[in-house]
Amino acid sequence: MAVARTRILGIGKAVPDNVVTNDALSQRMDTSDEWIQQRTGISQRHHITGDTGATDLGKVAAEEALRAAGLGIADVDLIVFATLSPDIDWPSCACLLAAKLGAGRIPAFDVKNQCSGFVYSLASADAMIRAGRARRALVVGGEIHSTGLDLTTRGREVGVIFGDGAGAVVLGPSDDDQRGLLSTHLHAEGKFAEKLWLEAAASRAKPRIKPADLDGDNPSAFPRMQGKFVFKHAVTRFPEVIQEALAFNGLGVKDLDLLIPHQANLRINQFVAAGLELDESKVVNNIERFGNTTAASIPIALHEAVQDGRVRDGSIVCLAAFGAGFTWAAALLRW
Ligand code: ACO
Repeated sequence: MAVARTRILGIGKAVPDNVVTNDALSQRMDTSDEWIQQRTGISQRHHITGDTGATDLGKVAAEEALRAAGLGIADVDLIVFATLSPDIDWPSCACLLAAKLGAGRIPAFDVKNQCSGFVYSLASADAMIRAGRARRALVVGGEIHSTGLDLTTRGREVGVIFGDGAGAVVLGPSDDDQRGLLSTHLHAEGKFAEKLWLEAAASRAKPRIKPADLDGDNPSAFPRMQGKFVFKHAVTRFPEVIQEALAFNGLGVKDLDLLIPHQANLRINQFVAAGLELDESKVVNNIERFGNTTAASIPIALHEAVQDGRVRDGSIVCLAAFGAGFTWAAALLRW
């Protein structure tokens, strides 16, 4: 049965125990705590040890989200998993997670859309529930970056930024049509794909990965980024999509109680807040402790904001993301 509006019924998060400080990275590459903090706001991130996949962290986050919603996996009839770092190439993390959680034969699929993957996934699940194609959805964002980074001086620009983690929400029908997910807004501009990408392994190459992909100054087997270019687009697209979401709902920046932006760089978020004339107390930033966990960063930050009481009943909350693709997106909620 179609429903008018969905809301988040429960939320969970998981990060590996192993904390990697900026000083620890400085032992492995030519960088410093001062450089990383000044440019990005990051002081530490979490990296897995041993064999842990995005779905292992995703499972922990999903179980917490289900508990918080007072539901079991049998109550869910859709799984959407956002990741750019799947456990294996295929099948999807959503399928692997479904098996780990003991789900029935419910639909499960991945959204591979980098930093905006979680908001895209939320939009997909929301649309399916409102169309009557599902009743409750488990939406997970999970990433293991640490195994795919060049943690030498050669890869330092990207290597210091990313961390591992997962966040999950259970989305279901709202019993109050004034509360829940108000709208979602999705954008992409693929012409900038090469500004931030990971080329190898690639199906367009045979073999898909070669020893040469690991060689040279800027090897294609590791993520490559034109940092300044990405930064400039991020600080333009974030305010645009936040304003778009607010205007769509007849609201303005003054109505916003909390902005939960993707955690790519503290300076980006400060820039965006200043541009919107939004007090920094209304912006959730936790990049200092987790780095950029890509599809997991928004649910992790939302989880913390719910736990520490910054998100209250009735709060107008905007989730906003920008990242590789380029892709960018926002979701506006009344909690
Ligand atoms: N430690 C020390 N020095 C470094 C490091 C490091 N970890 N990394 C780069 N440097 C050096 C550079 O080599 C450069 O040296 P040079 O001047 O001798 O050439 C110098 O520091 C300055 O580098 P810049 O590129 O000017 O640094 P910038 O101020 O632009 O900061 C950063 C780099 C932090 C990456 C920034 O550009 C940024 O955050 N960009 C946006 C990232 C982003 O939003 N990504 C999107 C999300 S990720 C996703 O979607 C998957």
